[in-house]
Amino acid sequence: MKRLEGKVALVTGGARGIGRAICEAYAAAGANVAVADLLEDDAKATAEALGAQGMAVTMNVTDLGSIIRGVAAVEAEWGGIDILVNNAGIFNMASIDKVTHEDYRRQYDVNVGGTIFAIQAVVPSMKKRGGGAIINFSSQAGRRGEANVVLYCSTKAAVISITQSMALELAGDNIRVNAVAPGVIDTPMWDVVDAQFAEYENKPKGQKKREVGEAVPLGRMGAPADVADPCVFLASDDARYITAQTLNVDGGNWMS
Ligand SMILES: NC(=O)c1ccc[n+]([C@@H]2O[C@H](COP(=O)([O-])OP(=O)(O)OC[C@H]3O[C@@H](n4cnc5c(N)ncnc54)[C@H](O)[C@@H]3O)[C@@H](O)[C@H]2O)c1
Repeated sequence: MKRLEGKVALVTGGARGIGRAICEAYAAAGANVAVADLLEDDAKATAEALGAQGMAVTMNVTDLGSIIRGVAAVEAEWGGIDILVNNAGIFNMASIDKVTHEDYRRQYDVNVGGTIFAIQAVVPSMKKRGGGAIINFSSQAGRRGEANVVLYCSTKAAVISITQSMALELAGDNIRVNAVAPGVIDTPMWDVVDAQFAEYENKPKGQKKREVGEAVPLGRMGAPADVADPCVFLASDDARYITAQTLNVDGGNWMS
């Protein structure tokens, strides 16, 4: 018996990067996987790679109607949802004199609001099925602030708090809520991060990425699969007595 056999998972931001690796790992563990993303074509490509276990869902996690329609489409196809991964996230940095209210709303709407309202949308389905597992995406940036990154860091700290409150609220329904806090993971997001740090720290492109990889105690940047495998564990019955936790998946960068 595979670890997620018979389960239905919905992964936001599943089209690429860490989200795609989670979709692949969940399908390999036996789950049916809804690949939910803004990027319609990439979501379709990821879902197609999963064969009959994959389904693409066009979803914008900042749009309540879009979340509700996406969840309903998965329920219609597979009867309900057992696992939700709130992986969709965006990064942007700015010094305090350059922070805009528009960017504040954008990052909070995706990273914080997207997490809260996707949970709201799937909980009725999980309750009907007698339980579930939710995995939220924080970051090492949620463990510790960083100069010029006030918006992103604070959204990721909020995700740790959301995880704790939701875990307590949903424990009686047999729904476990945990988070992961990745360190530096080689995905398309890091192209954005590297380019922005290059500007702020006056470094050639690629240098920041090299430096952060070399500084990791385990000696390298993470690969998306390094984060996906712990997400299989957290979604599985092996983690049945774990809730309200944020698991660092960062090669040793943060200790708690
Ligand atoms: N890469 C890292 O080093 C790192 C480190 C810590 C935490 N994280 C977190 O991990 C998660 C995945 O990051 P990644 O590096 O794979 O990023 P990525 O940019 O490569 O992928 C993010 C995915 O989310 C989707 N997305 C963005 N906004 C969306 C929206 N409004 N609705 C639906 N989908 C949306 C994108 O289309 C994309 O497919 C994010 O929450 C990120 O903050 C990443």
